[in-house]
Amino acid sequence: MLRQAADEVVAFDDELKTLAEDMFETMYASDGIGLAAPQVGIAKRMFVMDVRDPELEPRVVVNPKIIEQDGFESGEEGCLSIPGITGEVERSARILIEGLDVDGRPIRIEATDLLARCIQHEIDHVDGVLFIDRLSPFKRKLLLGKWKKLQKEAKQR
Ligand code: NI
Repeated sequence: MLRQAADEVVAFDDELKTLAEDMFETMYASDGIGLAAPQVGIAKRMFVMDVRDPELEPRVVVNPKIIEQDGFESGEEGCLSIPGITGEVERSARILIEGLDVDGRPIRIEATDLLARCIQHEIDHVDGVLFIDRLSPFKRKLLLGKWKKLQKEAKQR
């Protein structure tokens, strides 16, 4: 599921709203700032986010599309689906995205800094891409080795 491109959302019904609520719950329970539907086993192009900035509201974004991107910025990322590891990922410094809210109304979000990083990470998820895919093969191998070791240790506990 995490490796597949998810499907466009076509129905803006109660089921979608319930999914969004469940995703927020899962995200907050794991102390994350973003969560995409494929991470909870649902192949839909949709994510929720809350970068814990008092000036930015928690958002649901459905069928997101990046329409502008400028510059580059490196920063540390982790992922709720690959717990225990983080890596330095290069992303666009500024982005402009279009999408729909949970009721199907068009939204546009311009983002920089952590918000821009979060959105790009979540859009990757709906495309079946993980942050480790954006690292060098050497770094990816190293981190996956560490992750497997952590998983093994967790099982033994
Ligand atoms: Ni993630």
